[in-house]
Amino acid sequence: MLNEALSLKNEIKGILLYGFGGHARSVADVALKNGVSSLIFYDENAQQNEKFQGFAILPELPLVLPEGWFAFPAAGDAERRQSQFQDINKRGWPVNNIISSTATLGVLSEIGAGSFVGHHAHIGPKSQIGNGCIINTAAIVEHDCRIGNFTHISVNCTIAGKTTIGNCCFLGAASTAIDSITIGNNITLGAGGCFISDTLESGVYVGLPAKRIK
Ligand SMILES: CC(C)(COP(=O)(O)OP(=O)(O)OC[C@H]1O[C@@H](n2cnc3c(N)ncnc32)[C@H](O)[C@@H]1OP(=O)(O)O)[C@@H](O)C(=O)NCCC(=O)NCCS
Repeated sequence: MLNEALSLKNEIKGILLYGFGGHARSVADVALKNGVSSLIFYDENAQQNEKFQGFAILPELPLVLPEGWFAFPAAGDAERRQSQFQDINKRGWPVNNIISSTATLGVLSEIGAGSFVGHHAHIGPKSQIGNGCIINTAAIVEHDCRIGNFTHISVNCTIAGKTTIGNCCFLGAASTAIDSITIGNNITLGAGGCFISDTLESGVYVGLPAKRIK
């Protein structure tokens, strides 16, 4: 739940971020601006002694997570993020969500564990976001929407009210979905595309109105 996550802010001693790609660095930026003072990145391809803003990037996971820390799946790719999320759960480590203090959150909105809400994003009232999602910088998910697990709503996307989007979807930068429609699972929408009707077949879609190309 969103409000719980925000209230935990002052008790968080540090965050172990799985991954060190572009998305992980965006997550780190939000965490640091929210007042989190310690981070560790885990990336199996880390170079020796590599650091980001003074924080270590480790090629192996630590055996234990320090008291007061949580782990966070920070891969941009949905499949990798899902396996990171599963690994965190398997180890019994706490996982929280990370929400920018510049994001706005509607009343009765809910955000699942391990989900990220970037700077200046907006989640409308009564919208539900699943686990391991990315609601990226300046994206808008309006009122009464349902977003499944491990779905990425990219920078500057707009999802209009009462729309449902399934699991493991990727909606590219500045793409849109009109109100009151249903989008299935494992669906990609190219940058700038627009869904204007129910779309259930998995695949890659582009354009306005969005057409399936793969
Ligand atoms: C849609 C997308 C995933 C397709 O990538 P791909 O599978 O590598 O596809 P290709 O580049 O081979 O393009 C296939 C065709 O779709 C067209 N196409 C690709 N992306 C398009 C887009 N966003 N809008 C319209 N047409 C697009 C290409 O021109 C090409 O057309 P052609 O066959 O007539 O030449 C990708 O182009 C895209 O838009 N990604 C979004 C990236 C993004 O927004 N990232 C934000 C991260 S926060």
